[in-house]
Amino acid sequence: MQFPSDFLWGAATAAYQIEGSPLADGAGASIWHRFSHTPGTILNGDNGDVACDHYRRWHEDIEWMRRLGLNAYRFSTAWGRVLPCGRGAVNQKGLDFYKRLVDALLHAGITPMITLYHWDLPAELQDHGGWANRDCAKWFADYACLMFRELGDRAPLWATINEPWVVMALGYLWGQHAPGMRDIGAAAKAGHHLLLGHAKAVQAFRAEAPPNAKIGIVPNLGPQQPASDSPQDQLVAALWHGFINRYFLDPIFRGEYPETVINFIGEFAPKAAPDDMQIIQTPIDFIGVNYYTRSVVAYDASDPIGSRSVYQEGKLHTEMGWEVYPEGLYEILRWVHDEYGAIPLYITENGAAFRDEPNAQGEVDDPLRVEYLKAHLEQAHRALQDGVPLKGYFYWSLMDNFEWAFGYSKRFGLLYVDFETQQRTMKSSGRWYAHFIAQQRR
Ligand code: FCB
Repeated sequence: MQFPSDFLWGAATAAYQIEGSPLADGAGASIWHRFSHTPGTILNGDNGDVACDHYRRWHEDIEWMRRLGLNAYRFSTAWGRVLPCGRGAVNQKGLDFYKRLVDALLHAGITPMITLYHWDLPAELQDHGGWANRDCAKWFADYACLMFRELGDRAPLWATINEPWVVMALGYLWGQHAPGMRDIGAAAKAGHHLLLGHAKAVQAFRAEAPPNAKIGIVPNLGPQQPASDSPQDQLVAALWHGFINRYFLDPIFRGEYPETVINFIGEFAPKAAPDDMQIIQTPIDFIGVNYYTRSVVAYDASDPIGSRSVYQEGKLHTEMGWEVYPEGLYEILRWVHDEYGAIPLYITENGAAFRDEPNAQGEVDDPLRVEYLKAHLEQAHRALQDGVPLKGYFYWSLMDNFEWAFGYSKRFGLLYVDFETQQRTMKSSGRWYAHFIAQQRR
């Protein structure tokens, strides 16, 4: 398996999941800080107050990246560190944290990919409706513009929004994520404003960033397959495919939401102002694909949305309950490429949670993750060979961290983190990946 010599080999993280010190040095609280401090929201009452203490240990963490041989690192900036109220006064200390991080990464030969929004909206903006408020698109673009001005000269790769579908569905529709809302009308509005914010940020990028810098968006994607060839199962699979895979990409590449989904949501469908769809179609430079698993779905009359997902007996599942289905990575990359044209793609997240434990010698052996990584890289390579313009792979995650509503109970890392002592230990998967990268870069 030989990948192109300029391929990016990375790992990914997100601010609230690793940084800790959420209010340090003048930072403003985010909706995740607020949400995780609300009783009953997070498994075991966990929160991101300490997380991996990366805000103070970032230097050591770059050392670990170096040991892994990474030549790229995807992380997110916390909006509220830079703009404590989400808009208005800039917090220089927050900005300096990210400047130091970027400079140190570049110094270590690691290309930074900066995600501007990985779910931690400044809490004060939520008090004004958050993403359900149309103004949020502008607040986001202003924040993005500031970041481009401050860091655009050194950071070559940018992503606007991480998994807008998850923000809309888990944050505003089903309530498992911050801000914990269950309101279909607000969810549809939030989705539309995420797209608008994304596009306005891209426009600011064209004005502010150097011409060779690139910007894209990072949707979560995965095959949605029917459990049988019955017309009903096929119909629900097509609906989920529209909802998950097309809902944010069709507007960007075609200027319209998928019709099946819009018909399904009926009166709650987002109402676009006259120029919105044109703005949303502002060209981007790449798509970041986050891929974890597929769904197999069946029609189910007893379910409020008429479908259920069908557990795949006999298949390996991760600690998240997600089926390990490497072919799905190939399938979804091919689909994106066939559907939206020759735009460069990155795998911006792909990974697995398993029940990792240090042995008596303190080593963490995780053969299942090694298998996962290997099998998915094979599928990535297959996509490349079939002409998909794939430019890089970022494993999720660099280290075990705060897995949102599941707290610290799900370990995705290449590095094992002892959350009592903050000691990091490279797992077998980390060693395997380091070896693989070294061979590729030889
Ligand atoms: C994705 C998120 C990421 C992480 C992984 C497991 O949906 O983008 O932050 O939680 O899932």
